Amino acid sequence: MTTFDLATTDELLSTTRAVRKRLDFDRPVERSVITDCIDLSQQAPTGSNKQGWRWIVVTDADKRKTLGDLYRKGVGNYLETAKQAAEERGATQDTRVFDSAQYLAERMQDAPVHVIPCIEAGHIAADAPRRAWIGLGGSIFPAIWSFQLALRARGLGSCLTTLHLAHETEAAALLGIPDNMVQMALLPVAYTKGTDFKPAKRGPADDIIHWEGWED
Ligand SMILES: Cc1cc2nc3c(=O)[nH]c(=O)nc-3n(C[C@H](O)[C@H](O)[C@H](O)COP(=O)(O)O)c2cc1C
Repeated sequence: MTTFDLATTDELLSTTRAVRKRLDFDRPVERSVITDCIDLSQQAPTGSNKQGWRWIVVTDADKRKTLGDLYRKGVGNYLETAKQAAEERGATQDTRVFDSAQYLAERMQDAPVHVIPCIEAGHIAADAPRRAWIGLGGSIFPAIWSFQLALRARGLGSCLTTLHLAHETEAAALLGIPDNMVQMALLPVAYTKGTDFKPAKRGPADDIIHWEGWED
């Protein structure tokens, strides 16, 4: 018999969303809540139990401004184009996502905390086989998701973003991140305006499960 309260656990798992428009930019975030959530994220799995994570947490307004600028530079006209294309094909969920992403791009610097999860990758050559890169990403995204779940459980929200990575070198220079560390994302973190998030519309599991092999 499970020891978990499934109603609460399933609600956490199904309502932890990419929060953008409902980030409360005016409410300060305590350092301790960030530390607690990163602490919990360290229980996540990693290939070879390596745990080569580092978390750059930025609250300094000037640095957040620069990260916001780098993020917007990475966005370019991608979100605008993607939103238009989504509108044209009548994809309302996608249109909402791109609209919300544009809002975040404009306001990124206003999130009181920016978190950049990094992982040690000095041992991986640029032309390493695909499995090496899968192992690297697979060794940090579970921790990032745990961090996001832990935030949600405490009334905070976040959005996993990757568009600043087009300018990761400039971000590394700004924050003094060494060459052997790979930045994996930039998460704006804040308390959320309200906590009543809903599950997203997703297809049924039966549509994507292949029991015993692809053909079935
Ligand atoms: C690998 C990855 C990269 C992402 N990059 C961005 C990004 O750069 N900017 C952004 O606003 N959202 C980004 N997202 C968030 C997705 O847009 C979001 O998860 C998706 O639209 C589903 O929304 P939901 O998480 O609320 O269900 C990213 C998500 C993932 C998993």
